[in-house]
Amino acid sequence: MSSPRANPRAVPPIVQSLRCAACGTRVPIETPLSWRCPNAIGDDRHHVLLIESDVAPLRRGKHRNPFIAFRRYLAWDAFAHAHGMSETDRDALISELDAQIAVVAGTGFVFTPFARADTLSEALGFSANGGVWVKDETHNVAGSQKSRHLFTELLHLVAAERLGLTPWRSGARPSLAIASCGNAAFAASTLARAVNWPITVFVPENADVALLQRLQALAATVVHCPRRDTDPAGDPCVHRFRELVRDGAIPFGVQGPENAWCLDGGRTIGWEMAYVAEHMEPPLIARLFVQVGGGAFAASLAAGFHAGGTRAALHAVQAEGCAPLARAWDKSHAFATIDEAASNWGECMVPWPATPRSFADGILDDETYDWVPVCRAMRASGGFPVVASEQQVHEAYAVAHDTTDIDVSPTGAAGLAGVIAARKQIGNDERIAVVFSGIRRETPKPSSPNR
Ligand SMILES: Cc1ncc(COP(=O)(O)O)c(C=O)c1O
Ligand SMILES: [Zn+2]
Repeated sequence: MSSPRANPRAVPPIVQSLRCAACGTRVPIETPLSWRCPNAIGDDRHHVLLIESDVAPLRRGKHRNPFIAFRRYLAWDAFAHAHGMSETDRDALISELDAQIAVVAGTGFVFTPFARADTLSEALGFSANGGVWVKDETHNVAGSQKSRHLFTELLHLVAAERLGLTPWRSGARPSLAIASCGNAAFAASTLARAVNWPITVFVPENADVALLQRLQALAATVVHCPRRDTDPAGDPCVHRFRELVRDGAIPFGVQGPENAWCLDGGRTIGWEMAYVAEHMEPPLIARLFVQVGGGAFAASLAAGFHAGGTRAALHAVQAEGCAPLARAWDKSHAFATIDEAASNWGECMVPWPATPRSFADGILDDETYDWVPVCRAMRASGGFPVVASEQQVHEAYAVAHDTTDIDVSPTGAAGLAGVIAARKQIGNDERIAVVFSGIRRETPKPSSPNR
């Protein structure tokens, strides 16, 4: 490995540490395998490590891979730098893993399109000056934004292993683990396959057959998780996942409280958007509508976009059939700061009391695990949550397909449902942004809004 001082013009990484929003504990950036707050003991997940950094002004390198173009803003970069890995070696590691991923996924990480959707903007009644800008993640690695979150977990793991910082050797790797029944499971299994790392995926009893086939083709170990009489409340897949993690598996999912490093790479989407937005003729993009399931996506997107210095209002969008974040948002106002709300976690974030239901079936997490950074970003930007009706979730999917050539899934279009729900509060000249975050895989069913 070359010395970190090999390039005299090298710009040092900027992230210094991770800090738990709930208890204030700081974890130095050089700490290996720092997935969770050290005070998140046993099954306590009412802690979340957030990345402390100040990115502005946002600059990008020329590289087409966003992880290289924005490398110095990544917490992963600071971690590897702190252990003496040179800039050249950091770029090389990203390229090496990216190439391995491209073999499995058919594509590596590249900047994804972000542009005004003209026909869509017109259909929604925006003026020529205003309109809807769509970030198209449907051709990102594994067909959704999830792989971006997971890539920084993988970079951290592989770097730690090569730097001799892990308790195992590469021949005896512990299994990765994830609880998911959708895009995150597929993305995690794709990345794991690329580096031949064993992975266990915990899925619900009635998991989609087509997804199971895709996971098996990637050599993932799939474990079905029926509810056990002895289980506490909550998702049985998450219970089984935590048991395996307790026994030594590596959390490899997209929930900040389980693995904070997912919040690192997710920011690349926001940086890409901010970079385009900052080079647009005014007016600036005034609002971001982001579909929220577990919340890591909205948290990272806002952190990335706001890093550019623009303060677009964040609107976290949930479907009426599963909207625990809206309640947490209301409850959090009893506290002066979001950190104070975070230290009263159970009072604010209460799991959705009914069986979550929506046509947008990728955002049915009964708990918004990353509610803390999402609420913080909404407060800081003057935004608020939007709960879309089931009718609006269907409308968004239909109008996305009628007016764009993006083959987006109902979940991927659900941010747009929030635009439709809040349309009366948005001026016709306003510029807003959404992310079509996932590709349609099978014909979604059923199509009736009255499910
Ligand atoms: C396509 C797509 N978009 C958005 C989300 C929501 O992301 P998060 O769970 O991080 O809120 C998901 C989650 O599964 C998804 O699959
Ligand atoms: Zn903590």
